[in-house]
Amino acid sequence: AELADRVPLIWLHMAECTGCSESLIRSSTPDVSTLIFDHVSLEYQETLMAAAGWQAEENLDAAMRNYKGQYLLAVEGAVPTANGGAFLTLGCKGRTGLEMVQEAAAGAAAIISVGTCASFGGVQAAKPNPTGAKGVHAVVDRPVINLGGCPPSSSNIVGTLMYFIMFGKLPALDTFNRPKWAYGARVHDNCERRGHFDAGEFVEEFGDVSAENGYCLYKMGCKGPYTYNNCPQVRFNNHTSWPVLAGHGCIGCSEPDFWDDMADFEKP
Ligand code: SF4
Ligand code: SF4
Ligand code: F3S
Repeated sequence: AELADRVPLIWLHMAECTGCSESLIRSSTPDVSTLIFDHVSLEYQETLMAAAGWQAEENLDAAMRNYKGQYLLAVEGAVPTANGGAFLTLGCKGRTGLEMVQEAAAGAAAIISVGTCASFGGVQAAKPNPTGAKGVHAVVDRPVINLGGCPPSSSNIVGTLMYFIMFGKLPALDTFNRPKWAYGARVHDNCERRGHFDAGEFVEEFGDVSAENGYCLYKMGCKGPYTYNNCPQVRFNNHTSWPVLAGHGCIGCSEPDFWDDMADFEKP
């Protein structure tokens, strides 16, 4: 597709593990090359871009200048705010992540926080949070779409990008600004082990006969009843599997403060 047909996308990496980018590149409908070559013009993405060093940073600044008001901004990772943001500096100019996010947010058509770090602070904001890590929404004065999940599935990332590209507006959001189409139901509501929960059939110990039989993981700490996400339906890695199918309970990774509030992960 011609560049004019594609929506410029700037994807910033803050304090993160790159798991969200890893999830993105396993997209299958569309696959990531179709996304990049037919639907978006990927102006900056530290994992995927060919440019490096000064050239990469110039691409970023040029995209912010040339596509002001038109580009989509995706952010992966939490924004450290303590000490003026000094816990994260990036690139040749020594800008803080805080400065980069605020600068990029000012000219964006829409802002998408990809993952629980960017949405709510995530693991980086776990107590006592010495870097003052925060979600993007806390450092910009614009609405932000939050894609909770550590990481979110590629379906939820690409689906949200494509929604904006096709309809030119944000999807309906829940109270935490997560798209309702993806985060409208609890993991527990659509879990394939739900029949075992209703029948009172539980795994009591990892590796026991009940685990072999695929019984419910609630007694092993599954937080599916308290977690809003569509993992059982869309799954990960090209729709291959998801935590409960793999044999461990949901740890509530799409919820704010899950790291502090949902631990211990293996206790109900
Ligand atoms: Fe990594 Fe999770 Fe943060 Fe994504 S949300 S960058 S997977 S720690
Ligand atoms: Fe609910 Fe978890 Fe049991 Fe599935 S494994 S039915 S999500 S408690
Ligand atoms: Fe996260 Fe639970 Fe889904 S841990 S990936 S919300 S099953």
